[in-house]
Amino acid sequence: MSAEVLLEISNLSVSYGTSRGRVAALSDLSMAIPSGSAVGVVGESGCGKTTLAKALLHLLPPNGRLDQGQVFFQGKELTGLSEAEMREVRWREIAMVPQSAMNSLNPVYRVGDQLVETMMVREGTKRKRAWQRAAQLFEMVGIEVSRLRDFPHQFSGGMKQRATIALAMSLSPRLIIADEPTTALDVLVEARILELLRGLKEELGLTLIYITHDLSVVARTCDLLAVMYAGELVEFGPTQRVLREPFHPYTMGLVGAVPRTTALEWEPVSIPGAPPELLVVPEACRFVERCPFAANRCVREPTRLLSCAESHQVACHYADRADEMRQEALSPEIWERSLAGRAEVT
Ligand SMILES: Nc1ncnc2c1ncn2[C@@H]1O[C@H](COP(=O)(O)OP(=O)(O)O)[C@@H](O)[C@H]1O
Ligand SMILES: [Mg+2]
Repeated sequence: MSAEVLLEISNLSVSYGTSRGRVAALSDLSMAIPSGSAVGVVGESGCGKTTLAKALLHLLPPNGRLDQGQVFFQGKELTGLSEAEMREVRWREIAMVPQSAMNSLNPVYRVGDQLVETMMVREGTKRKRAWQRAAQLFEMVGIEVSRLRDFPHQFSGGMKQRATIALAMSLSPRLIIADEPTTALDVLVEARILELLRGLKEELGLTLIYITHDLSVVARTCDLLAVMYAGELVEFGPTQRVLREPFHPYTMGLVGAVPRTTALEWEPVSIPGAPPELLVVPEACRFVERCPFAANRCVREPTRLLSCAESHQVACHYADRADEMRQEALSPEIWERSLAGRAEVT
């Protein structure tokens, strides 16, 4: 892929201080995001997806710490920026659509006022121009312009999420990070929000990082797919290729059996066990407990993300056996062979 890289993440590690010790939430994550692409980030709950989004925007909570790594946005290093400098980047260059639209709209202000204020305060836009732009944004996200005068509680869940997207777009960022933006919505509304984001991306040449635990959402929306497990990036490549020919056993589990009625529906197998708690960073492949193909080397040696096919990377010692594993992974029983599977049976 020769497209210009918009966001380059290099060896990023983040941990949280807790009463039980430090949790290594993100470990040595590197990823290059081409300009104009839509990247889906998937993985079970607790795999570090939100931590990644917050680390990129310097929005980690007080107990969160960036242990190592760098982030370059359009060649500019973000990691070293002061809070004041970062505030210039946030929303104007990189905007976030959070999971809960309820929290990002202030209940005591009319939605239009929030959009207009944002543009006036952050960009110095004149009031009249800001109202024009707010109207444009509402048209763009498919809400009647007259509803700019409504308060958030007068909006349905889907409309609130659209308004949050309008707010994220208000300062014309180049990159939007959406963290499970449709989780609270029903399937129909979700499909429309996805279409909207996809359309905005095409129309405005935006770059999109779309965080979700739902693989079928990524299949419909994203060009590139990043699979995270236990704080690590374990597979990264063009979405359709990763879904059709996954190289990591975890991805194989997520993708599950063969495509069903349409090419975009999967029946996920259930992978016994849960992601490890990261109080102690294992000196092994992090998926070893749950992997039906684990061998001695997997227990002894941590994995690294390496190229496995064109524009496709995987962190598995046995990537060269992926064909075989893919076949075997189709059978749900194989997953009970893993340590976690056996532990559940006995
Ligand atoms: N504020 C926090 N304090 C302590 N641990 C946290 C905090 N936020 C997240 N974690 C831990 O970090 C890991 C990654 O969490 P998170 O990034 O929220 O994952 P995801 O978004 O994939 O569900 C989990 O083990 C989670 O328990
Ligand atoms: Mg999350």
